[in-house]
Amino acid sequence: MKETAIIYYSLANGNTYSIARRIQQQAGGRLIRIETVRPYTGSYDNIVAAGQEEVNRLYCPPLQPADIHWDDIGTVILGTPTWWYTMAPAMRTFLTEHDFHGKIVIPFVTNGGWPGHVMEDIASLIPGSLIRCPLTVTFDVAGKGTIEQSTPDLSEWLQQVRHIVAPESSEHPAAI
Ligand SMILES: Cc1cc2nc3c(=O)[nH]c(=O)nc-3n(C[C@H](O)[C@H](O)[C@H](O)COP(=O)(O)O)c2cc1C
Repeated sequence: MKETAIIYYSLANGNTYSIARRIQQQAGGRLIRIETVRPYTGSYDNIVAAGQEEVNRLYCPPLQPADIHWDDIGTVILGTPTWWYTMAPAMRTFLTEHDFHGKIVIPFVTNGGWPGHVMEDIASLIPGSLIRCPLTVTFDVAGKGTIEQSTPDLSEWLQQVRHIVAPESSEHPAAI
């Protein structure tokens, strides 16, 4: 039986992590955080500027080694914040370094209200994958971690994901 992994990038323990954790609590799967070798430092504005520079040149920052047995994974629940209308550079690195042929991919992205083309960009980097149930979650721009909008509705999406990941246990879903 192939495994499910929730592979995500999140600055600090941020918004994307909070969604990844909810997925794990309600649908299961192993949480795998990807991290850059070189951390982003300085003020939030500095990080936003550094991110813009990296996004503009499609930079793929080196990642710290992660405990991933890629061949054992059948379903990847993939989460990234939106950085300058696309995925965070760390996620670009991860997608370019892995072969997604035959994997089921459930992408979820977070943003502050300007979603851009992040879903399309993810899809373009994982040819041969089977993309299911994309989710976009908008958080407040003030950085308080409050969800302003979710498309589709987060609770319904979690049930769908649970059904894909663990169909036998989703016949009588627990209260969400
Ligand atoms: C470098 C950088 C670029 C960002 N660019 C965008 C953007 O283009 N559109 C948007 O809506 N939010 C943007 N944001 C806000 C984040 O997408 C949003 O706060 C996200 O939920 C952060 O996730 P995290 O806390 O897991 O890192 C940006 C944030 C950073 C740090």
